[in-house]
Amino acid sequence: MDIRILRPSDLPLIQHANLENLPENYFLKYYLYHALSWPQLSYVAVDVSRPKKSAYDYPKIVGYVLAKMEEEPTDGVQHGHITSLSVMRTHRRLGIAEKLMRQSQLAMVETFGAHYVSLHVRVSNEAAIHLYRDTLQFATEKTEPKYYADGEDAFCMKLDLSFLRDQIRDEEGDEEEEEAEAGGEQGRSVGVDEGEAVGSAGKAESKAETKRKVKVGRALGVGELVERNESSTA
Ligand SMILES: CC(C)(COP(=O)(O)OP(=O)(O)OC[C@H]1O[C@@H](n2cnc3c(N)ncnc32)[C@H](O)[C@@H]1OP(=O)(O)O)[C@@H](O)C(=O)NCCC(=O)NCCS
Repeated sequence: MDIRILRPSDLPLIQHANLENLPENYFLKYYLYHALSWPQLSYVAVDVSRPKKSAYDYPKIVGYVLAKMEEEPTDGVQHGHITSLSVMRTHRRLGIAEKLMRQSQLAMVETFGAHYVSLHVRVSNEAAIHLYRDTLQFATEKTEPKYYADGEDAFCMKLDLSFLRDQIRDEEGDEEEEEAEAGGEQGRSVGVDEGEAVGSAGKAESKAETKRKVKVGRALGVGELVERNESSTA
């Protein structure tokens, strides 16, 4: 089983899985909106064990999570939202939904600095409630009466993602320590190097090699990626 990021070409298969598994269905453009707006947050589970009959054979998508960032959070707190999640009947109870959810949650924190993730679930959906509450530790915030089109109530659930933020911060701390140690090692080895620098060109080169730390990926909010209007500086 391969868990990978959703590609726009997967969308017809996602829509098919959604129609098979859930009464809440969407137009294709809504899936596309997710894939284009928050491409880091939605994942698919692909059954790679299925033998391909030809090079044009579609991948067999057996599960997906469709997720987004809340665009105008009413509480003003940056957070993610699970729009849809499903796994084909043939592939249930294998831990696929749990993996898809964890992957999306991590991406919400790493890419957008999400503080929590929210979702709605039918009050009668025992399997999903077990997954969210018992396996993933979501808490039930409130019940929304008649949330679904057929009149069923929904539980609004929420998971605080600070444990992931701490985990990422710890990992970054470890990386920095390792880099500092590696720097120290390098310093020591420079000390024992008995060779002389050859000419001024060599010296200039070592100066240019000075390393500067730059932020990449993690903790780089989308705000920093937005194109700036620099017309006033012209
Ligand atoms: C809910 C759903 C996504 C779970 O997918 P899954 O891949 O089978 O789930 P996982 O194997 O990752 O299960 C993780 C945990 O979820 C819970 N769970 C999953 N299916 C369950 C079931 N039928 N009964 C009780 N608990 C269940 C368990 O706590 C399980 O942990 P465990 O196997 O260690 O006991 C799947 O049943 C499904 O697609 N249902 C139809 C669509 C749907 O309801 N989506 C959710 C909309 S909010």
